Parts: sequence; structure tokens; C-alpha cells
Amino acid sequence: MFPADGRKLLPLFTGHSPRRAATTCRYRCGDACAHEAPNTSDNPYFGDVVREIVSRRNVLKAGAVLAAAGASMATVSAPVAAAPGKTGRPGHGLDFTPVAPNTLDAVVVPDGYEQDVLIRWGDPVLPDAPEWDFANQSAAAQARQFGFNNDFCGLVPLGRDRYLMVSNHEYTSENHMFHGWDPANPTREQAEIAWAAHGLSVVVVERDRAGRLEVKLDRHYNRRITLRTPFTVRGPAAGSLLLRTSADPAGRTVLGTKNNCAGGVTPWGTILSGEENVNQYFANADAVTDPVARARLARYGFPAGATERKWERFDDRYDLAKEPNEANRFGWIVEIDPRSPHENPVKHTALGRFKHEGANVIVARDGRVVAYMGDDERFEYLYKFVSDGKFKRGEGRHAREHNKRLLDSGTLYVAKFTGDSPAAEIDGSGRLPSDGEFDGSGEWIPLAHNDRSLVPGFTAEEVYVFTRAAADVVGATKMDRPEDVEPSLRNRRMYAALTNNSERGNPGKEGATEVNPRVRNRHGHVLELAERRDDNTATTFSWQLFLVCGDPAADDTYFGGYDKSQVSPISCPDNVAFDSRGNLWISTDGNALDFNDGVFAVPLEGRERGHVKQFLTVPAGAEACGPVIDDDFVLVSVQHPGELDGASADNPASHWPDGGDTQPRPSVVAVYRS
Ligand code: FEO
Ligand code: CA
Ligand code: CA
Repeated sequence: MFPADGRKLLPLFTGHSPRRAATTCRYRCGDACAHEAPNTSDNPYFGDVVREIVSRRNVLKAGAVLAAAGASMATVSAPVAAAPGKTGRPGHGLDFTPVAPNTLDAVVVPDGYEQDVLIRWGDPVLPDAPEWDFANQSAAAQARQFGFNNDFCGLVPLGRDRYLMVSNHEYTSENHMFHGWDPANPTREQAEIAWAAHGLSVVVVERDRAGRLEVKLDRHYNRRITLRTPFTVRGPAAGSLLLRTSADPAGRTVLGTKNNCAGGVTPWGTILSGEENVNQYFANADAVTDPVARARLARYGFPAGATERKWERFDDRYDLAKEPNEANRFGWIVEIDPRSPHENPVKHTALGRFKHEGANVIVARDGRVVAYMGDDERFEYLYKFVSDGKFKRGEGRHAREHNKRLLDSGTLYVAKFTGDSPAAEIDGSGRLPSDGEFDGSGEWIPLAHNDRSLVPGFTAEEVYVFTRAAADVVGATKMDRPEDVEPSLRNRRMYAALTNNSERGNPGKEGATEVNPRVRNRHGHVLELAERRDDNTATTFSWQLFLVCGDPAADDTYFGGYDKSQVSPISCPDNVAFDSRGNLWISTDGNALDFNDGVFAVPLEGRERGHVKQFLTVPAGAEACGPVIDDDFVLVSVQHPGELDGASADNPASHWPDGGDTQPRPSVVAVYRS
């Protein structure tokens, strides 16, 4: 039973992340936190071994770089339009009153704002979709309706007040989708419904005369991408022996995408989406006897024995004993062009294979494009890709086709961070070192350039398909779960959400480092990275922790130097986005302060830098994700509402958004100023 006021109950057991329900952990990431983190490499944090002598000729100290960047920002002309908060000072724009932390079964927005549910699980995507009927679902219906547990949300403009909205459907929670769910005996129809509930949805949305967004059942553009949609494999590992299966002997066409978490809109108007916790869907890693293949599966956390959903009973491709290479065909960045609804989406091998949270692209000053990416698991790495080709401006067919090939060839890098404070001052408590900042320098280590491996002992194909193992060899820095990573188009710096790491400092695990300064990091931090000379293709950078999250009253938190008595508490940053004024917006997953997750906004420049304000909270059990920050509205994905311990479709803990005795439904919410 659940308290009437929607307060969360304490977890019934502690085998999963402390602030996420057991269901969420089980179905989203296969209980990743309950297992040993799969990075068991002895790849050390270099700064712990030797304090590198940072070349002042090559890498400016972070403070100097950031101060210089801040100074240049002052010359940027006033914002073209206001983000939510139109009366704010130029460069600020965040004049709303923060939402108080709460545990309500509701989406809560600031006074003076309104909200609507734009689309929810089961709503029609294709014009001929049947009405949603929770008690009588079918795979055929789900393949035409909005999928489950939408995470990333992206908007691609399609003319005045008209957009294509793309949503990722990260995972299915079968015990919340079906009455009487029996995990030991799933039916084929339930499995096929789940295959259709994964993937992505594309819908046309339009603004009406009042400025409100509305989904249109557009016959041309609306589209469902599911686990049965053909994807074309491109880049240097396309056709590799490592990607060939009995269903696809050429290794160039994969059916479907899964566990699509965060993503980004490219400068050429396509969507990138990260295939994240794909390991959990493949059974019987223990049946693989070849020691090399076993080690590769272990590095990605593939489970022994049966999977939670037991899809291996219905399709051999989910059984590693029968189709050992099928697993290698997931864990990529995929690209969807929503304006070309009949075109196969693409899996980009040049961007490496890991638990991709997402990818975000910026056009460097020389025209090459740079994609920043995180591998979301404890002690995993941050990556970037720099294209060989250059971005072509314009919306013409030639420019679009050219730009859609930019991620096929280039160089894949992994990040190594060095702190600038004495190791003795990084004691794991989170207290600032004597120089007043967690900061330092770093380098991007190249892993491969097209067909050429730059990692000893690895072929190029092996670098791309087993990227984690290649990054181990070159001494990449183990991070506290790199989630969404996004460059600011205003200042060219990159911001990364490092959500938490329950294992840092545990016996046998790496301890505190300046870039991950807290042991058993419960609340996470936000990293700001400035490339050398603001050149996004550079191979060296400076960095600092912009936010060290948690209770502002605690000694181990830091809010960009801002007065901590004035900020909203924030925990477990997950997605990052920017408004048109360059303010950073952050959504959270798994608030370890015992309140609901939410969306926060914080200025990056000037006197307000670090002034975190909570803009919105999502219902109990839900995670806030995918935020889109437009000048006239905010979109937020409300993922897994009501996923609280002990809850299920037979015992729902939430009735959001429809109220009464209805089942909770993952949705996209639009927020407007009243
Ligand atoms: Fe799906 Fe890393 O969150
Ligand atoms: Ca320092
Ligand atoms: Ca995420």
C-alpha cells in the first residue's frame, strides 16, 4: 500500500540503486548497480600515480580559460528571445520562483506556468492506430501507438509553428504494462508487445493560435520505429565478421534498436539516439566457451543464464549460445532522419560501441563536426568523435545528404583527466581542495581513425566493436557514470552529467580522484570542459566541476561558487540541455534526497553562475528526462511514473496523468507561461 499523499515508501531491499525502485533497475538496466561494475581493468587514474606536469604552453589553467570565455560572452548581443521567464535580465531569463522539493503524484510547475500532456503511452502515432486499451493490448496496436517509457525528446522544425517530435522508448516494465504479469512465464504476445513498445516515435506537432502544442496524426511523417525496423550499419565496422549473423550474413542490416536513452538533434536536422543497457536482453553468456569472446561479453556485463524478459524463448537472436554476434549489433549511436520517413535509420560504428547514453554534435570552427558521448556505467569513460568531412550549410538536398554522411568517417577519442591539486587534498569527502576548485587539464586519446587502429593489440574493427576494452588499454579516466554530454553552442564548452557512483572507494575499486572527488558518490556532479582555444577538435582541454550535487547545506556540495543558501537542492543529474540564452537545464534520475525527480535551470555566466533553481518536478516514481527548452515552451519526458517498490499494474502507485483509478502512463508534458 502507498501513503495517500504520494510519499515514497522505503525500498524493500537494497540490491538496487538506493533511490530507484527495484522494477526500474531490473527492467531499465538489468540491475546494473546490483552487479559488479564490469570495468575490472587495472587501468589506473593517471593522476593518482604521477602528478602530471601540465604544460602551461599547451593547456591553459581552467580558470583562465573559463574567465576568458566568460569575458568574451559579455560581448555577445542580447538574447533574441526570452526563455521561460521573459522579463529576466539579458543573459539570465530564469525569473520563475523555484518549485519546492516534494513527493506528489503530479507534475508541479512554478506559479505562472501551465502544463498539458502532449502524448502518452498508447496514444495513436499512426492515423490508423486503434484506441488504447490497457486490458486488451496487442503487438499490432502497440506498433502504431506511442511506445513505453519515453526518455529523450527532440524537436526538428518543419516550418512555422510545426515540428517533428522524436521520442525514444527506452525500455519496457512488463509488471507495469500487464495485469497478472508472470515473470517466469511470459507469453509470445507479451514479448511482441514489448518489441513494439521499444524504439522511437516520430509525430508532427503544431502550435495552435493560443500557442499550445498539439500532436497531429500526419500520414506522411508520423512513424514508429520498433525492434523490427531495419537499420543500415555504416562506418568502418559495417560488414565486419564481428557483426555477421545467420539472419544477416553481410553484417550490414540490423532489425531494431533498443534501450534508447538520451540523444540529440544534429545541426543537419536528424536525431541521434544512444543504445544504452543492451546487455540485459541477451541470454546465456555463460554458454560461450571461447575465452576471448567470454571476456568481451563480461566487459559489457552480459548476463549468464536467462534474461529477465526471456525473449530468448521467442527469438534465437536473443540467445548468445545460438547467435553470438547479435549482441555486437546493439550498443551503437543510431541516427534517424525524421524528414525522410521511408529511409532506414543508421547504426554508426565510427562512434564506437558501449552503453551509449546519447550523443550531441557541435560544428567546430573549421567546419568539422564533433560528437560528445558518455558511457553510462560506473567507472566508464567519456568519448568524442571528430569527423573528417566538413559541415555544409543549407537545407538543400545536396547539403543534407552530405551532412548525413559526416559521422561515417573520422577519429574516435576517449578522455583522460588530470587534477591540479595535491592528491592529499582529494580525500573523498567532497571538500574543496585549497585552490578552491575541483579542476585541471586533460587530453583526448585517439583510439582509431577509420580503418586504422591506434590502440596496440586491437584491429580497427575491434576498437569500434569492443570500444571499452580499447579505452582500458590507453589509460582513459574512470568516471562516475557519464550520462548526457552536450556542448553549449554559446560558449563551445562541453557539459557532462556524472550521475552517481555507489562503488567509488569501495574495497578493490578506484578511490576519489579530482574529477570524481567523492567516495560512494550518491548525488553526482556536473563537469564543464573547455577545449584548448575553444576548438572542439582540440586534443587537450581544461576542466572544472561546475556543480557537485546534493544538499546545499552539506559540506560536500558546490554550486559554481554561488551562495549555497539560495539554490535548489539537486541530486543525480542525468540529462543536460540549453536554452537560447545559454543557460544550462538539467533533469535528474533517482534523487537521493528523498524527493521526486525534476528539471532545474542554472546560468553559466556572470554573477548568477551556479544559481540552480528547480523548474519542475515529476510524479512519484518517475524520472524527468529529455527536456526541450524552447523560448515559448518546455517539453519534458515523464518516464516510469509510479515505478515504486511494491507497485505494479495490479497495485498501481500512481494514477498520473489520467487520475481516478487509471494506470500510470509515461508521457511527454508541455509547459507554458500562463
Ligand atoms: Fe538510461 Fe543512463 O540513463
Ligand atoms: Ca584543483
Ligand atoms: Ca538517462
